[in-house]
Amino acid sequence: MTKTPTPHVHTADPSPWISRFAGFVPPHGPILDLACGGGRHARLFLDLGHPVTAADIDISGMTDLAGRPGLKLVAVDLESGQPWPFAGQTFAGVVVANYLYRPLLARLVESVAPGGMLIYETFALGNEQFGRPRNPDFLLRPGELLAVTAGHLRVLAYEDLIVDRPKPAAVQRIAARREA
Ligand SMILES: C[S@@+](CC[C@H](N)C(=O)[O-])C[C@H]1O[C@@H](n2cnc3c(N)ncnc32)[C@H](O)[C@@H]1O
Repeated sequence: MTKTPTPHVHTADPSPWISRFAGFVPPHGPILDLACGGGRHARLFLDLGHPVTAADIDISGMTDLAGRPGLKLVAVDLESGQPWPFAGQTFAGVVVANYLYRPLLARLVESVAPGGMLIYETFALGNEQFGRPRNPDFLLRPGELLAVTAGHLRVLAYEDLIVDRPKPAAVQRIAARREA
């Protein structure tokens, strides 16, 4: 019997860190979900009434959302050296989870509109003991999110720690606002 492929339906819950600070984003302001994957955070913000630009090299996990009002899907290789696809745009919320391409960090800070928020969470050095990613290119250095926001955004919360859930990992995370 031929098996019908199961459509990719993304069911992962949003990160508690991103959820915690979602309400700090100005209401109805535009969101950039960078390296969105299956779009767990794009979905969160759409449900909260925000227009969302969701970008990833692989947007196949978002096909069930195609045509949803307020969603702009952008298929882009963010590491190809091509110009930044959102040049000249700012967002009320710049959201990144479990993705790091170090050359973009300053761009992400610049992309936060006055009054807007950067909400970022990804793996940090020390994660090697738990599993992937292990490549230091993909792991934040101690204080790195603080350093990149310093002088630009006001830090509301920052953590650099080992978590147990959803799996043991070393993570760094920040929620920071650009003063209006
Ligand atoms: C671990 S997943 C995180 C997905 C999502 N942010 C989340 O937390 O559910 C990393 C994502 O980065 C994307 N990615 C990796 N390299 C990329 C590149 N060069 N350009 C754009 N996206 C990339 C992958 O396709 C994948 O969706």
